[in-house]
Amino acid sequence: MKKDAVYVGIIGFGTVGTGTANILLKKRKDLERRLGFPLVLKRIADIDTKRDRGIRLPKGVLVKDFRTILNDPEIDIVVELVGGISHAREIILEALKNGKHVVTANKALLAEAGREIFKAARKNRMDVGFEASVAGSIPIIKVVRESLIGNKINNIYGIINGTSNYILTKMTEEHIDFKSALQEAQDLGYAEADPTFDIEGVDSAHKLAILASLSFGIPLSLKKVYTEGITGITPLDIQFASEFGYKIKLLAIAKRAGKDIELRVHPTMLPGDYLISGVKGVFNAIYIEGDATGPALYYGKGAGAMPTGSAVVSDIADIARNIKTGAVDRIHDVDMPENPELRIKKMEEIQTSYYLRFSAIDKPGVLSRISGVLGSHDISIKSMIQKRRKREKAVPVVMMTHEAKERDIVQALRQIDRLSVVSGKTVYLRVEGGEK
Ligand code: HSE
Repeated sequence: MKKDAVYVGIIGFGTVGTGTANILLKKRKDLERRLGFPLVLKRIADIDTKRDRGIRLPKGVLVKDFRTILNDPEIDIVVELVGGISHAREIILEALKNGKHVVTANKALLAEAGREIFKAARKNRMDVGFEASVAGSIPIIKVVRESLIGNKINNIYGIINGTSNYILTKMTEEHIDFKSALQEAQDLGYAEADPTFDIEGVDSAHKLAILASLSFGIPLSLKKVYTEGITGITPLDIQFASEFGYKIKLLAIAKRAGKDIELRVHPTMLPGDYLISGVKGVFNAIYIEGDATGPALYYGKGAGAMPTGSAVVSDIADIARNIKTGAVDRIHDVDMPENPELRIKKMEEIQTSYYLRFSAIDKPGVLSRISGVLGSHDISIKSMIQKRRKREKAVPVVMMTHEAKERDIVQALRQIDRLSVVSGKTVYLRVEGGEK
């Protein structure tokens, strides 16, 4: 082995581990030429050393015990790709303690325990790279941390969960049901080990917490991210949305209004002609408005072995360069101390437009009762559709509102759902870009 090389050990040989190993091995010569020194993949550890991952590793690289990597004095960079919280946390903390830099794709761990990890990194003067934790192939961490540092970031709107976007796209375009679309996404290796994280918005919330911390210079605030997933979205709502000229997307939103910040993940109706509305399948997109740059949209594959492997390799190369130039201890502007200037808004305080789908009995006077309750809560109707005619039976009645307060909407719907002329719970979706 060459002395001037930087040595890498990967822990976890699943989808992303395979993509990362593939790139490091196949592009070895090119990486060496560009970096000026070799990056050597010395070991990969995984409890399953038998499964065929479609990749040929040099003899002796694959080992069962991850401690082989943590205790190898020659290894400079440990890549944690086991996922989950507790085991991954131990691996990272031990690696940092042993004087190894860390690269991870583990958004759940960073969102939940980032404070402890970055503290340990600072203490041990080690780098922690996490480009692959948000939006797979899109280098959004680098963009927010480095490229936009001269900006005050005002708004972020992200489609940052490929699985949900894949499901919503399939439901919209191929009219397949939720379950089959989820199964396809799992088969393609996009979903988390626990797919409820994808479909319940938790994965997007993890990523939003990381992005918001970097963008606004605030502590990691996962608990303050309002989180709602796509399991309640029906083909009927997708169809009504399209009749109003909208698409439904699982959006991660971070907005600044004066000293207030909104952090929320929920299915959102967006005008169909917005660029971000055209983001399909497993692709991710992040729209960022900086005060200097104005609006910009970053787009690319958000999951999968090679796209995410590409992000992991970018961190490995960055850290290797830092090691070579003695510039380590550089990647620390996440999880900043509390900023007394900024306050994260409670969900009931937000104000936006809404889509409401009532299940109302088709008879005279019903609409006036519903709109009466809305009016008494200061909610103004913008447009309305009632499609079917079924005298004395329940039919869907759909309304779009002007901007209203979430608190008023929740209270009004509670009252409306108790009316004898309304059957079933009213569906409501938040609308962005509705007030044209
Ligand atoms: N399960 C994630 C997604 C993988 O679907 O986007 C990438 O983080």
